[in-house]
Amino acid sequence: MEYNYWNDEYWKNNLANHKGEKLDFLSDIWLNKYTEIFKKVKFGKALDLGCGLGQYTSFLLDKGFDTISADISKDVLKKVKENNPNTETIMLDMSKSLPFQDKQFDLVFANLSIHYFDKETTEKLLEEIRRILKDDGYFIGSVNSSKTYKFIEDIAIELEPNYYKENGRTVRLWDKEQFDYFFKNFKIDVLEEVETERWNLIKIMWEFIVHK
Ligand SMILES: C[S@@+](CC[C@H](N)C(=O)[O-])C[C@H]1O[C@@H](n2cnc3c(N)ncnc32)[C@H](O)[C@@H]1O
Repeated sequence: MEYNYWNDEYWKNNLANHKGEKLDFLSDIWLNKYTEIFKKVKFGKALDLGCGLGQYTSFLLDKGFDTISADISKDVLKKVKENNPNTETIMLDMSKSLPFQDKQFDLVFANLSIHYFDKETTEKLLEEIRRILKDDGYFIGSVNSSKTYKFIEDIAIELEPNYYKENGRTVRLWDKEQFDYFFKNFKIDVLEEVETERWNLIKIMWEFIVHK
């Protein structure tokens, strides 16, 4: 099979290096801050897109959602299924069309996972997410802030404005103007720039809750 950075490097290394450990960020369920707004979401069918280890899949299952957990890494999806036998897992590449029918989901959730793509792909992905959401569906997630540039400036190569290559992967760093552009077809309920921690490193990210 073709080499894939996320499966063959990122998750391979992180799963091996942290075997048996309880990873700190698994308790970083920032959505708990927005309980009042989250209540507006119908707790029906949810997609955890770029689910990683699936901590948000567990959160959504606890809330009563039927979940589909999707990621490009088959290794991490195995973990997700071990931890959440009730979720459906699917390996997919979100830079391509999403393999779901129109208006299927009450919620698409994407935590730190839609920020790896160039402008054209990001635009298409946002359209795809909108397409698979029901008319009253919500899209909730987070992306890296442009303020995290200072952490990668020594190794980053700019490919497009706000879009960089760093080590084996590409990353888009977001500022308010990019939300105005990419999220123009969504109504914004929450957009907050916050500081958090991942793998023991400071991270500045945007949290968003938007709907159709
Ligand atoms: C920083 S991790 C976030 C994981 C999880 N959502 C969380 O909050 O812990 C980014 C995730 O996106 C996945 N990913 C990256 N590119 C992808 C793509 N093109 N299609 C699907 N998943 C992708 C990675 O495998 C990884 O699990």
